[in-house]
Amino acid sequence: MTEQQGPGPGRTRQSAIYRRGTLGQQPRVPTDPDELEARAHKEMSAKAWAYVSGGAGTGASVRANRAAFDRWQVVPRMLHGTTTRDLRSEILGTSLSAPVMLAPVGAADLVAPSSDLDIARGAAAARTPYIFSTQGCAPMERTAQVMGDVPWWYQLYWSIDEELVDSFIGRAEDAGAKALVVTLDTTMLGWRTQDLDLGSLPFSQGIGIAQYTSDPRFLRIVAERVAAAGDAPSPLEGTKGAEKVRAAASGARTLLSQSRRHPGDTRDNLRSPEPRAAVETFLDIYSNPGLSWSHIETLRERTQIPVLLKGILHPDDAQRAMDLGVDGIIVSNHGGRQVDHSIASLDALVTIRERVGPEPVVLLDSGVRTGADVFIALALGADATLIGRPHIYGLALDGADGVRDVIDNVIAELDLTMGLVGAASIAEITKKAFLTGPA
Ligand SMILES: Cc1cc2nc3c(=O)[nH]c(=O)nc-3n(C[C@H](O)[C@H](O)[C@H](O)COP(=O)(O)O)c2cc1C
Repeated sequence: MTEQQGPGPGRTRQSAIYRRGTLGQQPRVPTDPDELEARAHKEMSAKAWAYVSGGAGTGASVRANRAAFDRWQVVPRMLHGTTTRDLRSEILGTSLSAPVMLAPVGAADLVAPSSDLDIARGAAAARTPYIFSTQGCAPMERTAQVMGDVPWWYQLYWSIDEELVDSFIGRAEDAGAKALVVTLDTTMLGWRTQDLDLGSLPFSQGIGIAQYTSDPRFLRIVAERVAAAGDAPSPLEGTKGAEKVRAAASGARTLLSQSRRHPGDTRDNLRSPEPRAAVETFLDIYSNPGLSWSHIETLRERTQIPVLLKGILHPDDAQRAMDLGVDGIIVSNHGGRQVDHSIASLDALVTIRERVGPEPVVLLDSGVRTGADVFIALALGADATLIGRPHIYGLALDGADGVRDVIDNVIAELDLTMGLVGAASIAEITKKAFLTGPA
């Protein structure tokens, strides 16, 4: 798609949109990122919107991610005669047609049914790698099938059950993952005020636990718990009158949601303690608050595929990761969802690249909204960027096509930016050549 025989992805996309405009058709997925968000908001339930758009605490980290991009300005060069651009690169053996991948996003069924499969369809249509979440809504093996020959990576949340960790890694390798991304920043959920104020946690509805309920090790743990539990107390105990009626109705909806999402027949599931036990088991074991460097050290023996650590923000942590021999890092503050008043990812990228030098693989996410943002991140030392919330907004607006459109729009703008400023390849995008900003 981005090999430069024709006019390039930017002009091609622009022309297609303007041509449809002559027929009175406007894009279903807005190219303006604020409009994209606003239109997606209208399509989403209150709980979905809270979960996807929300940040930790006051939302300062979400705002900081955007403010960091606004502090840099691009300085275009003129009369450079750049007519073709090469957007391709290779990251740890994964070929990219443009330096863009889809970030792992869990529980996206809140936004649209079959979310992961539609995201995979959109990613594959745009020939863009997708990082599957451990908190995904379809078993990784099914999503992998949809990706076809387009590469995908697997994101791991480190469970307190080490056998489950090995099971996830083994399944990802068997299903064809090209790299393993270990997310470090979510050893516990952040203080997510928008979700808290709705009392909404997708996982308790059984949303976002499909990697677990398709895992033999996880199902064994659930079966052991069911056998050990006997008669669990009713969650209605201690409630009375109207409150009891409301709680019973809500409990029934939760049970139905859990049963629908659990493998097997929904009617059988409704009569079984397993769906509820699966949710409770997930909540108990999905993450390890004690995760430390000693866990990461074990990875070399546990997998053959490249390993990246996601969530690194401090240069000392970046250096330590390199010293341990990990293959790459993803600079990320999880879209501002974990720690309020966190350093912006883009600011962290600058100091991290300075520390680790030009060689190590460093990716960036959090706040990337446009092709110009990708350009700035590359100039500041990122090898590639991940697109997070915007692809979920595309999903909300137009399913798989919406995901594809969001990716295509970002790549189109990156291509046009490169052509306008005079960068013929990804390697030519440097801070020295094209940016001005904080000293
Ligand atoms: C709704 C939602 C769910 C997410 N789930 C995961 C996840 O399961 N695993 C993970 O490593 N990161 C997860 N992230 C973080 C993203 O991978 C990425 O770091 C973040 O979206 C980047 O910020 P941005 O979307 O504002 O650009 C999630 C982000 C959102 C918005």
